[in-house]
Amino acid sequence: MPYKFSDNPRQQLPKEAYTSQEWLRREQENLFAKTWRFGCMEFDLPQAGDFQTLKIGNFPIAIIRDANNILRAYHNLCRHRGTELLEGKGNVGKTIVCPYHRWTYMLDGRLRDLPNADHFKEIDKPNLGLKEASIGIFKEMVFINPSPNPELSFEDWISPLHGAEWPHKITENKLKAGKEFVYRIKCNWKVFYENAIDGYHLVYLHENTLGGPKPEKNEWDIHGLNMVWYSTERDEIRNRIPVFVEEQVAKMGGAKEIPGAEQPGYGGVYMLFPTTIVTPSKWSLTISHMEPISPDETILRARTWVPSSWFDMEGALNMPLDMTSHLVRYSQKTGRKPRWKQVTFKRRIYGYAKRCRDR
Ligand code: FES
Ligand SMILES: [Fe+2]
Repeated sequence: MPYKFSDNPRQQLPKEAYTSQEWLRREQENLFAKTWRFGCMEFDLPQAGDFQTLKIGNFPIAIIRDANNILRAYHNLCRHRGTELLEGKGNVGKTIVCPYHRWTYMLDGRLRDLPNADHFKEIDKPNLGLKEASIGIFKEMVFINPSPNPELSFEDWISPLHGAEWPHKITENKLKAGKEFVYRIKCNWKVFYENAIDGYHLVYLHENTLGGPKPEKNEWDIHGLNMVWYSTERDEIRNRIPVFVEEQVAKMGGAKEIPGAEQPGYGGVYMLFPTTIVTPSKWSLTISHMEPISPDETILRARTWVPSSWFDMEGALNMPLDMTSHLVRYSQKTGRKPRWKQVTFKRRIYGYAKRCRDR
């Protein structure tokens, strides 16, 4: 059932929630250490030994495909003296070898060998395997929870979304990936989150880019802890793209649509609590996630997949987070003054965070 937000919110966070290091520490401990976050796509790691590292809260994590083709997630720390084992992404081969003293782990996490083992006679080798994190897969997306035994299981977190439409299959539709965009945003992660679920501003701040929809045409469905946004501005039919954007894209000569994504019915923004954001359109799929790095700074990483013809058209791996920069190009091509109000976004958000601090 669509959830209508109350006119009288029951909860307002104190200003410390947006400014204090102590509050962020509590979030790291009680939220990010226990919840699910997007890590990579299943197809990013096709071969045994393929790995990718990431940081979730304070935890360095490695996702790795083991010799039995199973994706696993570990805390990326050697059990000897805590050295980070892997960096970036790549293929480790058949074992994970610590660079410090060469303790060697199997891809399934077991400690296999250590140099000068006779100096360590008393250690309990079977209990010194890599510390596991939890892993869950949904629509080719790999999610990680730093806890080995999450209070909220992956199924309990994701299953409420099973009833929501989700048309894009990146592999099936042979979508191509643009490069990852990384934004350093001067605001608390919750300010960014709150803006992302703020349908009130769309018609105003984004008048010339998204062009609406009006607040009363926004619907948010609640799926457990996750939320899906729909625009209903077209005869109350749920859509995921504001009509204005569709019109602008049509004026640009159209864009290649993803098979199965032409019809309305699925959301335009999927907020996967707490830090993953999925934004499908009929032309693209973007997966973003926030990494809070301080009370007033957040890194947003965004990857977009599009039909291959976009690349023919664009001639470069140069996809934006959303359609707005295309609209700027459109404005430039047509000689109309670019009016991309989103450029002011960072300043406004920063101003907002500062006001919270000064309050
Ligand atoms: S810290 Fe890894 S082998 Fe010593
Ligand atoms: Fe916005």
